[in-house]
Amino acid sequence: MQFFSVVSSPVLLLQLCISTLHHMFASIFSAVRYWRTTSPVSPVDRKVDQRKVQNATTPTSVNYHFTRKCNYKCGFCFHTAKTSFVLPLEEAKRGLKLLKESGMEKINFSGGEPFLPDKGEFLGKLVQYCKQDLQLPSVSIVSNGSMIKETWFQKYGADLDILAISCDSFDEATNQLIGRAQGKKSHVDNLLKIKNWCLQYKVAFKINSVINTFNVDEDLTENILQLNPVRWKVFQCLLIDGENAGESALREAERFVISEQQFQEFLDRHSSVSCLVPESNEKMRNSYLILDEYMRFLDCREGRKDPSKSILDVGVKEAICFSGFDEKMFLKRGGKYVWSKADMKLEW
Ligand SMILES: C[S@@+](CC[C@H](N)C(=O)[O-])C[C@H]1O[C@@H](n2cnc3c(N)ncnc32)[C@H](O)[C@@H]1O
Ligand code: SF4
Repeated sequence: MQFFSVVSSPVLLLQLCISTLHHMFASIFSAVRYWRTTSPVSPVDRKVDQRKVQNATTPTSVNYHFTRKCNYKCGFCFHTAKTSFVLPLEEAKRGLKLLKESGMEKINFSGGEPFLPDKGEFLGKLVQYCKQDLQLPSVSIVSNGSMIKETWFQKYGADLDILAISCDSFDEATNQLIGRAQGKKSHVDNLLKIKNWCLQYKVAFKINSVINTFNVDEDLTENILQLNPVRWKVFQCLLIDGENAGESALREAERFVISEQQFQEFLDRHSSVSCLVPESNEKMRNSYLILDEYMRFLDCREGRKDPSKSILDVGVKEAICFSGFDEKMFLKRGGKYVWSKADMKLEW
């Protein structure tokens, strides 16, 4: 009866229709809103991503910063101890295998200080795995050098192509000011010791220097020529928001920053050093494929390190689309070079 009286009134019938439609649209909108907040990408993005994924860059040369912890306190450091996480060895190996299957030819282990976890054993096992199991043409390390022991070379030296030691100055007082030191130990004496172990155990020796306000006026020519590295990488001190600049950063590196002109003057002063490879901020920022401790690519295009998803979760091709990697700049800065020690024709 009641139903009959409702449907028999056109006004009430119209109200019923409007209310039903309102409920229908409300539930559709709330479903879409839920889906948008829980799903990382919209369907349109997914389609674009799939095209990008198909044409993803080959990770020819990769830098794996497997730890962020360090025993030094360099004031300009742009990869700081924001976590103490290190992947379990087998997971790190799985990621390295995925990279090799995607075309990786060179792996560089960095940090933090790569010789810290398990007193260099974690690193040694990764080096061995990359050379012996994955047969990578080039396996290298960047280290501050302070934790390296001769026994490490005896055990793992044969599987390592290049060891780069960071040294910004041959003046200990400058190293102390920078924070490139642990206690009163001499960074330079250590560097000389490692250079000799590299000769003895047939590992190519390289030096990295960061040019900053504390060393910009120095002349390192004589020391570098004496040490005779295969390559001397010279970086202009770079700021990265969230690492060494900005509110959430663990370092404040503004006081280390030098201008383009100051950097150029340093390069001009060292023009007689033929192994010098210069990297201005512009060349450096996006020309490295950087993997963090979770095996996520870090995108520096916005001046900070924005992580992708982990290659362990989504694979290399998808993750690398979010790396911000500039392959042209990588080639322009000389990123591809003779990087197997077997091809270097070195006199040991
Ligand atoms: C982050 S460190 C990690 C490896 C190791 N602890 C070391 O210092 O060699 C890797 C390289 O980045 C360089 N580096 C650190 N902070 C930098 C900055 N703000 N600008 C340019 N290079 C920097 C270091 O000198 C080193 O050669
Ligand atoms: S740059 Fe200095 S503080 Fe940073 S990881 Fe290397 S040695 Fe440690």
